[in-house]
Amino acid sequence: MYLPQLIKRAEAGEKLAVLTCYDASFAHLLVGAGVDILLVGDSLGMTVQGHTTTLPVTLEQMVYHTEAVARGAAGRSFIIGDLPFGSYQESPAQALHASARLLSAGANMVKLEGGAVMLDTVRFLVDRGIPVCAHLGLLPQSVNTTGYRVQGRDQTAAEQLLRDAEAMQAAGVQMLVLESVPGSLANAISLTLDIPTIGIGAGAGCDGQVLVLQDLIGLTEKPPGFARDFMAGAGNLAEAVRAYVTAVKSGTFPGPEHSF
Ligand code: KIV
Repeated sequence: MYLPQLIKRAEAGEKLAVLTCYDASFAHLLVGAGVDILLVGDSLGMTVQGHTTTLPVTLEQMVYHTEAVARGAAGRSFIIGDLPFGSYQESPAQALHASARLLSAGANMVKLEGGAVMLDTVRFLVDRGIPVCAHLGLLPQSVNTTGYRVQGRDQTAAEQLLRDAEAMQAAGVQMLVLESVPGSLANAISLTLDIPTIGIGAGAGCDGQVLVLQDLIGLTEKPPGFARDFMAGAGNLAEAVRAYVTAVKSGTFPGPEHSF
């Protein structure tokens, strides 16, 4: 699956269902259950490796997991690969090297965290044919600075986030993940931008939703408040994932109880 097809569907009003995915067997299952985009997230630092943050994840590990997901998806899905902490912040050239590794491993797009400070890097990548997804709001790679707190709550922070989102679009990103921001702000950003926004803890107004797979299938000890356990009431994993896809596409997830 290629980006123009996804963008066309989002433009036609179809909500995009996105899930994190870290291995081949789940890639096969998620594609079969109708998930639109597989995100090889650096959240694998927590879900797979047992760390408390995403910070220890290396580029080699992201390449390894992206290759596994790409083999499982077998060309039937769109794959976003996360640039891990320390693999892209130093210079645009460093980011290009890391992005090339992920695209060679099977990703169709790379995702990076950060606002204004990443604009030159985004332009550099986009000019060289790398599709980029930006990640704004709560930035897990900046947890040592911000903690895991909802972002953009006051007016100044909300205006800054909106400006960052517009600047990212102008720099050429083709998708935007918004994490842990008030639903009203994510909605305003989604209405302002032309590119698809994908929310996680960002309310129902985004053009798509993403969850960490383990949060959805009841494998997280203390899941975040914005997640829903889709295993409850499902007979098996595939049914749970299909229920998530249906809930996202019909607009029943996230509900107000999953939003800030
Ligand atoms: O790494 C990840 O799983 C992510 C999601 C939280 C969007 O970036």
